[in-house]
Amino acid sequence: MRFPSLLLKANMSGKISNPDSINGQTGKGNAGLTCYLGHIVSPISESEYADIRDGALIVDQAGVIVAACPKSDIEKNISEYKRVIDYGKRLILPGFVDTHSHLPQIPFTGRSGKTLLGWLDTYAFPAEASFSNTTHAEKVARWYFDELARNGTTCAVVFTTIHKDACDIAFQTALAKGSRVIMGKVMMDANSPQSLLEDTSKSLAESEELCQLWHGADNGRLLYAFTPRFAITSSEKLLAGCGQVWERNHGTYLHTHLAETQDEVAFVAKQFPKSRSYLDVYKEHGLIGTNSVLAHAIYLDDQDLSVLQATNSALSHCPSSNFFLKSGTFLFRKVQKAQIKFGLGCDVAGGPEVSMFDVMKNAAFMQKDEWISPTELFYYATLGGARAINLDNRIGNLKPGREADFIVVDPSCRTGVPKDILEHKTDEILSSMIYLGDDRFVVASYVRGRQIHTTEKQVLAGVTT
Ligand code: GUN
Ligand code: ZN
Repeated sequence: MRFPSLLLKANMSGKISNPDSINGQTGKGNAGLTCYLGHIVSPISESEYADIRDGALIVDQAGVIVAACPKSDIEKNISEYKRVIDYGKRLILPGFVDTHSHLPQIPFTGRSGKTLLGWLDTYAFPAEASFSNTTHAEKVARWYFDELARNGTTCAVVFTTIHKDACDIAFQTALAKGSRVIMGKVMMDANSPQSLLEDTSKSLAESEELCQLWHGADNGRLLYAFTPRFAITSSEKLLAGCGQVWERNHGTYLHTHLAETQDEVAFVAKQFPKSRSYLDVYKEHGLIGTNSVLAHAIYLDDQDLSVLQATNSALSHCPSSNFFLKSGTFLFRKVQKAQIKFGLGCDVAGGPEVSMFDVMKNAAFMQKDEWISPTELFYYATLGGARAINLDNRIGNLKPGREADFIVVDPSCRTGVPKDILEHKTDEILSSMIYLGDDRFVVASYVRGRQIHTTEKQVLAGVTT
């Protein structure tokens, strides 16, 4: 059947947006398609979203979106669909994209009282050392991916630990559980506790072996990131070697931390005295460019901003962590104005929660003199994040041709939110979702059309075949 074209609804500015329809046409029958009914909200830019109340999201057997349109467009033929899942007035949104997180740190979320370098020594390093035990690694990996799915995070950029087997287990678990990841083995060969100190050549060789095993697995759902922890725990040899393996493994990622605290920046200045700035340490070793994801990036100067923009590098802004570890304030408007790509990250356990609702809220709270609108926060947690990691041709919104990574959200389930919130204006629904949201709001999560989490048995029972 044909899906007629659709004018996207107005956003908060009240203007009718570009008639760049999010409809598509199959030209095929509907027999293999699944139809999800609900209130579709799909980001377009920092200031605009497509808004279809009583919408229908049509997904094919490969998990690709065929159309997002008003239900009235397909109602006549609804009986032809393989399955119809009716989420009523609840929101259907792109899944959250978390651009920076640590799988092995989930067992100790919520431990504060120290700034970064003390916190690493006290909590993170001992917790990560225990991943030499593969039984522990398996248990935590399952816990972590369940937690992501429960919180509506369908794609995450993830640190594991230095342990090759534990990283392999993390990939196997993501493969089985259905999350989309960009992930890698951590590399550490300097200034580290003995239990986490690697031989440089072995670290590089094991990373490349894992990359060859996992990069591109399941049609590109699993991607590899070379992951030097940060400059402090890296020798020059490791950084240079990392630049080389990253370059020769095309399409892979480079994921690390950058300029998160002043103490860290001072340490790096002593460790690499010839470099003009912390960013320059990475630049000099070939670690920035397209598919480089640099977490935090708080202490940057104007020259650093120009280099980041010119090299198409991406930042991950982690406000919950920056609050929790008292690290500092991300230059949100300055980075935006410099046209540097960035997404949001939970940075668990530097941030105390996996929840991207919490991260969006804290991104707004953190800026003292700036208002960041719900539309903008929603954009950075979805399409903005996908753009930062160069996956916006696959995920981040609900256009035809994108893979069906989406979540179903119901803000009315919580006390303190009006019971009739789903009847309100979309801007108000998004605002309640961001400022009051948590895992209770997430009714279901899907990656490439596969349900990876649901709280609602009756929804599944309501499936018509
Ligand atoms: N810098 C180096 N390692 C880490 C880490 O595990 N968490 C955070 N927040 N920053 C880091
Ligand atoms: Zn981190």
